Amino acid sequence: MLVLGIESSCDETAAAVVRDDRTVLADCILSQQQHRPYGGVVPEIAARAHLDHLDRLIGDALSEAGVALSDIDVIAATGGPGLIGGVIVGVTTGKAIALATGKPFLAINHLEGHALSARLAPGLDFPYLLLLVSGGHCQILAVAGVGDYRRLGATLDDAAGEAFDKVAKLVGLGSPGGPALEAAAQSGDPGRFALPRPLRGRPGCDFSFSGLKNAARLAWVALPAPGDQDRADLAASFQAAVADVLDERVGNALATFQAAYPGPTRLVVAGGVAANQLLRHRLAALAARRAAVLVAPPLALCTDNAAMIAWAGIERWRLNPLPDGLDFAPRPRWPLDPGAPALLGAGVKS
Ligand code: KG4
Ligand code: ZN
Repeated sequence: MLVLGIESSCDETAAAVVRDDRTVLADCILSQQQHRPYGGVVPEIAARAHLDHLDRLIGDALSEAGVALSDIDVIAATGGPGLIGGVIVGVTTGKAIALATGKPFLAINHLEGHALSARLAPGLDFPYLLLLVSGGHCQILAVAGVGDYRRLGATLDDAAGEAFDKVAKLVGLGSPGGPALEAAAQSGDPGRFALPRPLRGRPGCDFSFSGLKNAARLAWVALPAPGDQDRADLAASFQAAVADVLDERVGNALATFQAAYPGPTRLVVAGGVAANQLLRHRLAALAARRAAVLVAPPLALCTDNAAMIAWAGIERWRLNPLPDGLDFAPRPRWPLDPGAPALLGAGVKS
C-alpha cells in the first residue's frame, strides 16, 4: 500500500510517499523563509506560499519515489489543527487529486501525525507516553492505540518552542530562535539569572511558559548595556528553566501513565524542541530513573513533515479502510482527545 501525504498546517510545505512496510520513498519539505523579517509565521503569507509550491512538491515526491499518481492507494492530507489558510490549501489539493484519480481521501489530524510518527521506525508498540513540544504545540498524551489518545497535560498559554522563539528574538538572535538560543546557551551560565519554574510543584501535568518568557524579558531590559556574555547567560538560564519545567511535568505524567499502563514504559518525544540536547539529556535521565525508555525519533521526523501524515494515513487505513468525504471541512482546532477540557492560549491550536 502506497500513501501520498500532504502537510501544510504551519510554515512547512511538504509532500511524501510512504509504503505500509514503513519505507519512506520520498519526503520533500520546503521550509518557508518569507517569515524571517517578521520574527514569526504570518498566516496569510504562509497560505500563499503553500499555494505556490505544493503542486511542485507533490510532483517532486512522486518522481523521487519513482511512482506515478496511479500507483498511489490513498491521499492523506493534514486536515487540522493549524493555520486555517494553509490547511485549506493542503486539504483542497488532496481532495482535488482524490477526485481526479478516483482514489480515497483521508483528512489527518496533524497531532495524530506527530503522535504516531515514532512508529515509522519498527519496534514501538502501544501504549506509550508522548511529549509533543513544538512551536505550536506543547502537550503530553498517553497514546494507547490508533485513535486512542488521552491528554494528560497541555500548555495553558505559550508552547515551549514559541517561548524559545520569543526569547531569542528579545536578545537579538535569528529565527527560528530555538537552535540559536541553544547555541548561545553553550557558553552561558545557567545560574546567572533566577528565572521562575512555572507550575513546578503543583499537581498535574499542565505547562505555562508566558510568565517565564516575561521574566526573561524583565531580566534582559534591566541590563544597562547587554553584551554577548549577558546574552549567553540569559539563554542558558532560560533553557535550564524550560528543561526543569518539562522534566518535572513529564515526571508527573509518567506516574499517571505507569499507574494506568503497567508493564514496560516508553517515553516518546516529538516536535521541533525535541532537537534540544539539554532537554534530551534530561528526559533520558528521567526515563532511566523511572524504569522507562526514552524514544527520540530522528529529527527529520520530529519536526513538521509529510511522511508522518502519510504514516498516520496508513495506520488509520489499516484499522478501518473508510475514506473521509470530500465535504470534509478543514479544522483550525481539532483536539486529539475530545474528552479533555478545551485549551486556552497558544494551546488552542490543539
Ligand atoms: O515541530 P516544529 O518544526 O514546527 C512547529 O512548531 O510545529 O518546531 C519548531 C519549533 C520552533 O519553535 C523552534 O524554535 C523549536 O521548535 N526548536 C528548538 C530547537 N530546534 C527547534 N527549540 C529549542 N532547542 C532547539 N534546538
Ligand atoms: Zn507540528
